[in-house]
Amino acid sequence: MPRSRIAGIGMYVPENVVTNQDLTQWMETSDEWIQERTGIRERRYAHRTEETTTTMAVEAARQAMDMAGTTPQEIDFIVFATLSPDYYFPGCGVLLQRAMKMREIGALDVRNQCSGFVYALSVADQFIRSGMYRNILVVGSEKHSFGLDFTTRGRNVSVIFGDGAGAVVLQPTEEPGRGILSTHLHSDGESAEILAMYNPGTHANHWKEEAYAAFDEADIGQMFFSHAMIDQGQIYPFMDGPAVFKKAVVKFPEVILEALHANGLQASDLDMLIPHQANLRISQFVQQRLGLRDDQVHNNIQSYGNTTAASVPIALCEAVRLGKVKEGNLVCLAAFGSGFTWASALLRW
Ligand code: COA
Repeated sequence: MPRSRIAGIGMYVPENVVTNQDLTQWMETSDEWIQERTGIRERRYAHRTEETTTTMAVEAARQAMDMAGTTPQEIDFIVFATLSPDYYFPGCGVLLQRAMKMREIGALDVRNQCSGFVYALSVADQFIRSGMYRNILVVGSEKHSFGLDFTTRGRNVSVIFGDGAGAVVLQPTEEPGRGILSTHLHSDGESAEILAMYNPGTHANHWKEEAYAAFDEADIGQMFFSHAMIDQGQIYPFMDGPAVFKKAVVKFPEVILEALHANGLQASDLDMLIPHQANLRISQFVQQRLGLRDDQVHNNIQSYGNTTAASVPIALCEAVRLGKVKEGNLVCLAAFGSGFTWASALLRW
């Protein structure tokens, strides 16, 4: 059975740099608070009208395909991870297929937030191993800047997130020991509401029941979206930061060690850990727990913030371009996020 390998990788971040200081014009926050708690100095925001989750994905995908030496017509399947799609539906997969003038191939959208890219990679890996496809485009892309609460009410979430895209082309390889060695996926829905965007949705939470009582049947459409929902900030993401932090620092090391042990390896064997860029403090905690040196971990949240599904491919792409990941290196990709879901992929570059 062939393994899959990353034959090409690309990344795109918008030109517009937004510093911590820039954020203080909209909300009560400070560069000091943000850097101390998250490590973030700045992030990128997409152009309001000209850049979307899909257009950024196209830029990253072009680079990945160039590196892999494939054309859009040769791509057999798309797996697209995002929590900030261009439309509520259809997903970004078909928009990417259209934008890149690909054949009438399958396009799958993954909704696993911060773990989205590693989940997407795992799905693509199975299709390559089974022999069903030979060229799969796996993408993570986010335009968070369009859906954040830029008032002080939303500051605990808004200061963390940034926009960007990353993409890889996955192909089969017969080279012994190379490529994706294994992937590991997990979830625990007990805490689904701790890091979530509830609306618009079909759930009937307390707030919605109140809203329902206030409307007559003629206004049933208001259950999906209403002025009150907007006024009360119910359209923005919610996060219990400390609870997320506590769970992340347990699950990150667990899923990294799971991948290593599944392959008879240990942390000291790792050449590079690419953790999802949730918070620099989380990455540092994980590094310490695993006893890794600074040169064994690549972080770039300082410059881009948390780009959710795009963070792992952006960080991997950057590490490759900086020469921090070289041919034959053992690399672990790991992510944790909303759901909760968490995942890892161990690969020999
Ligand atoms: N600027 C200034 N003050 C802020 C702020 C901001 N951007 N955001 C929150 N605060 C305030 C709070 O209002 C609170 O004030 P109070 O003590 O007067 O009530 C205080 O800072 C502490 O808030 P708390 O939420 O306890 O801070 P924290 O130390 O846990 O840090 C996070 C907050 C969000 C940075 C941190 O919890 C975190 O990073 N968690 C993980 C989040 C994550 O990784 N999310 C991505 C998912 S993959």
